[in-house]
Amino acid sequence: MKILAIESSCDETAAAVVEDGRKVLSSSVNSQIAEHRKFGGVVPEIASRRHTENICDVTRDAMQQAGVAAGDIDAIAVTAAPGLIGALLVGVNFAKGLALAWNKPLVAVHHIRGHIAANYLAHPDLKPPFFCLVVSGGHTHMVEVRDYTDFHIVGRTRDDAVGEAFDKAARCLGFSYPGGVQMDKEGQNGNPHAYKLPVPKVEGSPYDFSFSGLKTAVINTVHNAQQKGEPVVAADMAASFGYTVSELLTTRFCAAAEEFGHHTLALAGGVAANSTLRRRLQQECDAKGLKLYVPPLSLCGDNAAMIAAQGYYEYMAGYRADQSLNGRPAMEIDIQF
Ligand code: KG4
Ligand code: ZN
Repeated sequence: MKILAIESSCDETAAAVVEDGRKVLSSSVNSQIAEHRKFGGVVPEIASRRHTENICDVTRDAMQQAGVAAGDIDAIAVTAAPGLIGALLVGVNFAKGLALAWNKPLVAVHHIRGHIAANYLAHPDLKPPFFCLVVSGGHTHMVEVRDYTDFHIVGRTRDDAVGEAFDKAARCLGFSYPGGVQMDKEGQNGNPHAYKLPVPKVEGSPYDFSFSGLKTAVINTVHNAQQKGEPVVAADMAASFGYTVSELLTTRFCAAAEEFGHHTLALAGGVAANSTLRRRLQQECDAKGLKLYVPPLSLCGDNAAMIAAQGYYEYMAGYRADQSLNGRPAMEIDIQF
């Protein structure tokens, strides 16, 4: 079964064709990063306009790369939540139009379920149940994936998402958007123990996270140093931040896995590309005899192949959307469309 998927929840316009939820026939991504960089972050109005301009070309490209025509497609999947509402609506309305014109079933996909499903594309042996750490620009969740469409949130951030904290710390250090990538790169040349940063805990909730204090600690350290005319070594701060975040995510995720009896673990979301986190988590899983699945770097960021993968399992579970489908800026992962 071949699914054509559309993704436009943030600043990437993407389309992909995937067979049986596992085999990528094509994946086309048009990134707007260069344009948003001048503003230091995503400008929602510009994102919506660019999606509208690019979505036809990106979809045509995905169809051509896969060597398929409309008649070969069995269903259309689309990211319908969560994300920037204007951006989501471009993809949702485009997918609704295609479904109507081509007379195909339509499937709505939760963006974070898609990030988790990126693992299915790279690891044919991975099947639920497993325990997943979702780390993206908008989410930091520990999720039990009980079945392909059955999710249970065990812990979450109480304030900033980890990607957001990376981006804000990066901005303060003078790195360009998206800062997380730069923090990772620069940090590789720095000393991870140069700056001692706080390891925030949420009282009474051992599996929840808080990142705003960590972000503020970076900002305060930089401002204090500037006022005293002292230099802040950006590479050392980037390395210290990456080390602190990776340490706390790894220890809390592995402790939760132990507590809830999970031996199969997965990582998902844009921050899953972080080299320190990948290394540290793998090391801990090896030490504890846990099996860890990590998506390849090409599937960590936003793409439509992951939406097609999850779309396949939503379709197989019998879920369908119709022409009344709307985008939703916020939606929990355990709620079904
Ligand atoms: O999953 P994603 O593409 O978008 C959302 O669904 O939110 O994640 C984007 C986030 C950004 O905050 C970006 O800075 C961060 O992922 N990111 C990284 C790295 N690559 C992307 N953060 C740390 N290290 C990286 N290598
Ligand atoms: Zn994403």
